[in-house]
Amino acid sequence: MTTYKLLLLPGDGIGPEVMEEVSRVIAWVNARGHAKIETETDLVGGCAYDAHGQAISDAAMRRASAADAVMLGAVGGPKWDGVAYDQRPEAGLLRLRKDLELFANLRPAICYPALADASSLKRDQVDGLDIMIVRELTGGVYFGEPKEIKDLGNGQKRAVDTQVYETYEIERIAAVAFELARLRRNQVHSAEKRNVMKTGVLWNEVVTRLHQESYADVTLYHILADNCAMQLVRAPKQFDVIVTDNLFGDMLSDEASMLTGSLGMLPSASLGATDANGHRRALYEPVHGSAPDIAGRGVANPIATIASFAMCLRYSFNLGETADRIERAIAFVLDEGYRTADIAQADCRTIGTAEMGKTIVAALDRIG
Ligand code: IPM
Ligand code: MG
Repeated sequence: MTTYKLLLLPGDGIGPEVMEEVSRVIAWVNARGHAKIETETDLVGGCAYDAHGQAISDAAMRRASAADAVMLGAVGGPKWDGVAYDQRPEAGLLRLRKDLELFANLRPAICYPALADASSLKRDQVDGLDIMIVRELTGGVYFGEPKEIKDLGNGQKRAVDTQVYETYEIERIAAVAFELARLRRNQVHSAEKRNVMKTGVLWNEVVTRLHQESYADVTLYHILADNCAMQLVRAPKQFDVIVTDNLFGDMLSDEASMLTGSLGMLPSASLGATDANGHRRALYEPVHGSAPDIAGRGVANPIATIASFAMCLRYSFNLGETADRIERAIAFVLDEGYRTADIAQADCRTIGTAEMGKTIVAALDRIG
């Protein structure tokens, strides 16, 4: 049996609570002999700042790059509002993404049938929804230089963020999107703002050329990012794969999450390039944040994090069948009427974080 090393970075707020439920699922995978997953735990975000004065320590970075995969909970909270910009909790997450070169962020938005009424859209708009947002994660305005606030000396300041993309960055993220589309409904929407941004013009050009050269069998649509945002709430089922830059991807994925019923349902995988040994660096995390308002109360929804672990099994540990089973177990407990507070519904049973984790693990055995 293959042994995998998984680094757990629970982080802040509800991060540790939802990660605890992943540990329960890991114990099930190990006990049932699907694989041997060895875990280590370290700090990221505000808790790392409190311990080391840095949002992630160099030692934790070394552990992350030595691991077969990393699972992250969430970072941030009002406690660290006054911390210097470079040490703010989010800097830990951004360093992981950048230093491990996790350029491809996969954010699947799937509407479980049982949750179609929890969506802010009408049931028929979202029932059966299955979108894959492919977000570029190591470039664009998140990392472009200069990035600064300058004092102009006349009582005014000037803030600059820089949106920058090079050809290879667009090529490699578009290739991920086309490859994924081939395994799905064979359709890609490439979202940018070529009508106002030079990066949008280049994005459009590179995606068009790559499509013609290598992926002409996939149907490609170019869509302006603002129109994409509107279409996502008008008729979301028209989309299969959406490929877009770092900032648009951040926003479009939060928007898409509400189609599925709750931000607490959306998992994600952040993948690097595959090296010569076939190994690919990867980090898995829920799309939601640290939710300080409900932290420590045992009411957070662990499903996005458990579903992120399923993505880890699929993309990093080659355990696609176990991943399918976890996703079926989630659908099963939702069908049975179990809900956390964020997706509570009349006639359903609202349970806490740990109960949801235990119910999913019990379902893993029941569904066989
Ligand atoms: C996300 C988050 C992060 C981002 C924050 C926490 C830095 O919103 O993963 O979507 O903006 O990328
Ligand atoms: Mg976001």
